[in-house]
Amino acid sequence: MKQHERYVVAGGRRLEGEVAISGAKNAALPILAAALLTAGESVIHNAPMIRDVAVMIEILRKLGARVEEGPAGVSGRTLHIRADGVSSLEVGADFTREMRSSIFLMGPLLARVGKIRISYPGGCAIGPRPIDFHLRGLEMLGARIEERFGYIEASVPRRLRGTEIYLDFPSVGATENLMMAAVLAEGTTVIRNAAREPEIVDLQEFLNKLGAKVRGAGLDVIRIDGVRRLGSVEHTVIPDRIEAGTFLAAGAITGGEVTVQGVIPEHLDAVTAKLREMGVTVREGAGSVTAIGPRRLKATDLKTLPYPGFPTDMQPQMMALMAVADGTSIITETIFENRFKVADELRRLGANIKTEGRTAVVQGVRSLSGATVECPALREGMALILAGLVAEGETEIEAIYHIDRGYQNLEEKLTRIGAVIERR
Ligand code: EPZ
Repeated sequence: MKQHERYVVAGGRRLEGEVAISGAKNAALPILAAALLTAGESVIHNAPMIRDVAVMIEILRKLGARVEEGPAGVSGRTLHIRADGVSSLEVGADFTREMRSSIFLMGPLLARVGKIRISYPGGCAIGPRPIDFHLRGLEMLGARIEERFGYIEASVPRRLRGTEIYLDFPSVGATENLMMAAVLAEGTTVIRNAAREPEIVDLQEFLNKLGAKVRGAGLDVIRIDGVRRLGSVEHTVIPDRIEAGTFLAAGAITGGEVTVQGVIPEHLDAVTAKLREMGVTVREGAGSVTAIGPRRLKATDLKTLPYPGFPTDMQPQMMALMAVADGTSIITETIFENRFKVADELRRLGANIKTEGRTAVVQGVRSLSGATVECPALREGMALILAGLVAEGETEIEAIYHIDRGYQNLEEKLTRIGAVIERR
């Protein structure tokens, strides 16, 4: 991970063209962890070539799984995973600090081998990110959990036992971790107030192809009838709705016309509805969505919510659009405590944004001017690129390793639709 790399973006170009969307990071990560549930082979197509997936592959190999990486494709690559020889059951801080999603290993390893020792995945720039729902749910399934010396030590005396779990909040990660733990448990597990994100439906598809019995993903009650063992699977990861939303926003903010290809339009409904409110023309086709930006965007308000509400992972990008819109916009962030960090950096570019707790008031300005800014986190980094695309002169964006975590071939894709962006 090259800490010193930066992007230099030249503003003032209208973006135009088509972008092939990659496999979804937030579907691929739990699916890769789920491959540990079986001694059989998992063939996973459309795995995005991003830093987080590379880290997950490193962890799987360290645990003793064999991972073969197929040739690079437009939207991702094929992985062949065999976890018949899982030997080590420890995941250290070097991994959990770099990628919180290593927590997804708890469910599958506890279910399959009955043990895991994992370093506590601390918080990140967008919030403290506790894992209490994960741990409580695993304990209810019969796991013994001890937390000491910065590690979580979890073990199962014999086999996990199905039970009823109510989530205090529809957490995406907790829903996925407990689904994976429950597929090999004795009896039936019911997860109530479950998260409904499309990535959870994709995980259910993967698990059921392996021979699991999961029903209800996409709704707020998920039922899992435990089975003794699983087989092999071949699966294609769904397209990344957040990457797609980000490119549509790039077309919108530059007054351009951008089409994202290889997407599931319904997954973007909340995002396209907001873009339309800002005066963007949106056209949906079979597997594609086009955004045509107006001469000047209109202000609007948004509130982030669990799916199918407006995704928090598109909130920073929308703040960049609102920064140059006509009028005052109000953002209410209901998912994470600290997700307005990018406002400071946008202000360096001339934006007029006030934040108070979970509310941000964005007074649109006529123009931004280029400056040197720093990426606080993944989606926030993309907001800075969007702002740089319309700012006068050049914008230098530091700490872009955050962006590499979740966007595949970003410079190539942006350059192909007319952006001037360079990694230095
Ligand atoms: C997933 O994170 C995504 N990550 C996040 O995307 C996304 O922002 C988030 O869901 C919400 O949509 C992946 O899928 C890998 P949560 P996750 O558990 O699972 C609280 C990106 O940019 N909570 O749904 O960690 C938590 O603090 C990333 O791609 C607890 O209190 O999110 C938060 O306020 C960023 N205790 C809320 O629930 C818990 O045990 C939602 O978190 C778990 C969560």
